[in-house]
Amino acid sequence: MSGCLITFEGGEGVGKSTQIKHLEQKLRNDGHDVLTTREPGGTPAAEKIRVLLSDPEHGGKWSDHAELLLMFVARAEHIKDVINPALNAGKVILCDRYIDSTRVYQGHLGNISFDFITTLEQHIIGQTVPHLTFLLDLSADEAMKRVHARGASDHYDHGDRAFYKKLRDGFLQIAAQEERIKTINGLQDEASIAAQIYTQAKEHLHEHV
Ligand code: TMP
Repeated sequence: MSGCLITFEGGEGVGKSTQIKHLEQKLRNDGHDVLTTREPGGTPAAEKIRVLLSDPEHGGKWSDHAELLLMFVARAEHIKDVINPALNAGKVILCDRYIDSTRVYQGHLGNISFDFITTLEQHIIGQTVPHLTFLLDLSADEAMKRVHARGASDHYDHGDRAFYKKLRDGFLQIAAQEERIKTINGLQDEASIAAQIYTQAKEHLHEHV
């Protein structure tokens, strides 16, 4: 595989999608073939799973195991139909959430053991590990403020402060263990964040692609 998989991670309201748009534009200007995608989602079937996951008619929260498995069903399709073909075609893929979200939401916040998640990763992700990951980090208070300001209403966003704190701690813990994850202070202004992400992505692409 000759392309590059760059993932964006972080809690709710940290500004991932805005930053993905900035990086997409900058890399396109440099002549890269860029594909943006997201999880859960990225294929028609996986997008249906995304809808199912937040379906109010489901009547409540999915069990932790059901949620985990639905994430991996969506991911398996996404890898097979979108990510691996794009990597093989030499594209730069910018993916809004990927495996680290599962580790944090289903592992740290849910009640799923890391061993089980790792086993699923080994079987379903295989070699399709991100080359580079940007973690947009915000304090629990700031993230909550932003989510409430945008009036988000799907079931994922119904967290109290403890939820946001645990979410942030989960991502920071993973970032401390993985060299590929670059933590970015999400409190900075949009343009400064975009510039830092671009610099690090360019460096990586220069060295590895
Ligand atoms: P977002 O992509 O719009 O931020 O929201 C997707 C939601 O899905 C978010 O609350 C995190 C959640 N999620 C998981 O719980 N596990 C996962 O593996 C992924 C990719 C997302």
